[in-house]
Amino acid sequence: MSSRQAGHTERCGSVSVEIGVDGRHFKLDTAKSTYALAVTEEGYLGHAYYGSSVRHLNYDQLLRLDEYPQEPRLLLREQSRFLNVFPFEFPASGLGDQRRCALELEDAQGYPGCDLRYQDFELIRGKPALEGLPSSYASEDGALTLIILLEDPHLKARVSLYYSLFDGEEVIVRSACLENLGNTPLQLSALISASLDLEPAAYQVLSLDGSWGRERQLNLRPLGSGCLEIDSRRGISSHEHNPFIALLAPGASQHQGEVYALALCYSGNHLQRAELTEHGRVRLQAGINPATFGWTLQPGSSFCAPEAFLTYSATGLDGMTHAYHDFMRSHLLPEPFARSHRPVLANTWEAFYFNFNEDSLLKFARQAAQLGWELVVVDDGWFGERHNDESSLGDWQVNPGKFPAGLGAFARKLQDLGLSVGLWFEPEMISPNSNLYRAHPDWALQLPGRPISQCRSQYVLDLSNPAVLEYCRHSLCAVLDTAPIAYLKWDMNRSLDCAGSLYLPAGRQRELMHRYVLGVYSLLSYLRERYPRLLIEGCSGGGGRFDAGMLRYCPQIWCSDDMDVLERLYIQEGTALVYPLSTISCHVGAAQCSCTGRNWPLDLRFLSALLGGFGYELNLGALSPGELESIKGQLKLHRALESLLLCGDYHRLLSVRENGERDAWCVVSKDRREALAVLIQIKAKPNTRSLRLRLIGLDPALDYEIEGQEGCLGGDELMHCGLPLDTLGAGAQGRLWVLHAR
Ligand code: GLA
Repeated sequence: MSSRQAGHTERCGSVSVEIGVDGRHFKLDTAKSTYALAVTEEGYLGHAYYGSSVRHLNYDQLLRLDEYPQEPRLLLREQSRFLNVFPFEFPASGLGDQRRCALELEDAQGYPGCDLRYQDFELIRGKPALEGLPSSYASEDGALTLIILLEDPHLKARVSLYYSLFDGEEVIVRSACLENLGNTPLQLSALISASLDLEPAAYQVLSLDGSWGRERQLNLRPLGSGCLEIDSRRGISSHEHNPFIALLAPGASQHQGEVYALALCYSGNHLQRAELTEHGRVRLQAGINPATFGWTLQPGSSFCAPEAFLTYSATGLDGMTHAYHDFMRSHLLPEPFARSHRPVLANTWEAFYFNFNEDSLLKFARQAAQLGWELVVVDDGWFGERHNDESSLGDWQVNPGKFPAGLGAFARKLQDLGLSVGLWFEPEMISPNSNLYRAHPDWALQLPGRPISQCRSQYVLDLSNPAVLEYCRHSLCAVLDTAPIAYLKWDMNRSLDCAGSLYLPAGRQRELMHRYVLGVYSLLSYLRERYPRLLIEGCSGGGGRFDAGMLRYCPQIWCSDDMDVLERLYIQEGTALVYPLSTISCHVGAAQCSCTGRNWPLDLRFLSALLGGFGYELNLGALSPGELESIKGQLKLHRALESLLLCGDYHRLLSVRENGERDAWCVVSKDRREALAVLIQIKAKPNTRSLRLRLIGLDPALDYEIEGQEGCLGGDELMHCGLPLDTLGAGAQGRLWVLHAR
């Protein structure tokens, strides 16, 4: 269905799009929110409203068309003032809007400026995909997409703004595509995915920031005058700043208040910004980072910005989290994996590092099988002459010394033990000491005349070059076609520095960063299509590329190289704020954490890893018989709780980041009949009274049995009075409760 009918409301389950009678007003409704746009007499597209559901809107008042300097009759005289205050839905720079703009474009002579005026709209059923980019998806009867067309007749440039609403979801997916309708090239220096001009309020900005070993920590601060930017320039979405931003209105917190959020579906250099303008309004944006971007748009061609997932919550961060989790599980994750069983894996990295061969792995696998693990992941070191991290990236042929009969034979031996096999790859890299580099030195990113930048003794492949992509496809498939590999860990261990392409023509180097990401996506989507059942886990030196873009191909992503219980609580609180629990890959590591040197008991390591994609990464030889028995119990428990973790509603109860002592969260099934709650105490003050832990999300009218305890407790009692905790003492310890409605 495609419609240009004005004065019409199209519905799709819980969502609808209303087109005004004049075809110049648009009201988008989800079950809980309204998003509204209107076109002025002169053809400017304004953002009228976003917030809790409203039945009728006075668009002129919301756009303040009756206030100076927005009275249309003043427009000629006061154009510059008007352009600088009007709440543009998609602001373009160069003609008078002095705020941060979504579009920066120059004509063939290099003259800046773009004047976008409304042309038309189209309403379609379903959710179109963006070519070459990860896209959310829905069936024809599961979503509505409104497309608004804006044009600058002088530049002969057209922008299509996309808004998709999904039945049952609170996320609005936005993106923007630019077309060159003229006869001369256009120079694009910014095309932001979504821009939102909000009413004045003293917002706080929330982002997920950090570094290697401490990714995605919550960072909340007031928005002062000027522009606050969160970005990456490393070529990946980065450990430092996740492509996510939220604005918290005054009074908003975990469980209450208004929150606006944008999560960008992109894995390269991104930018989120919030600008508090001179008139007190706030402009919120997310998109490809213009700082490292440029694109020559040839006549007749187009460029699409990645999708941005926009959501509004009137129930604080909790509402935002549920909106994102539900949406990503139903409309982003690769379908066969979205809610289905993930194998419990044993990863060889921290157990062996590079020191393994088939014999030692088979011994490890036999123990793994006895414990009930399902998948052995052979991490770094199985290929080329890779005995440390100084060689062989790019030479994806099995090392015959380590696997004399080849990978296929090894995999079949594991299959006989009831185990499947996973393999580590770092497809985007090339070691200077590799056959690949000796054959193709021009395939590494480099700046002519300068030494090539090394990091972890490796260079980055030029994924803008089709020949390189062809080699990557071929070398990956050569392995995957000859051995029964069930899982692939896709790693990426350095940033793109001194990044130049010997393939791209002169004057096009600013396209490299985006073309590189398109290359990554093209490889991943090729693998997804060719091996639909292959479980691909994303990784980037731990969690350096944990974003919605990667989740379109990788149902789970390694969250961090840091498996320290306390550090993981911080990291996982931030990660789970946006991304579903099923996507957060967690392992039970060794007693002494290799990143921090701190020691943690096995039960706490298990509880902290009981979040998403679950596994173990430790030397089995170092475990006592008692610990091995405990692991068998942990596996049983994980199996029993897995579908709750994959499909339920996650609620944060306590944050060790805030209180310094304890972290707690729970997951409640959609029908509210099953639940689990986890509490991890890091330390506590001595000589205090026992605590109670108030749960969230249960059915107040139901009674719940708690496994291992006599009797029942009411949902209302558990939520308002709380679970009684026995005295915990002052040391580190954890508790897990499993609840069933009676
Ligand atoms: C990265 C990953 C680790 C491991 C190593 C192997 O650091 O995050 O999990 O795979 O690479 O070199």
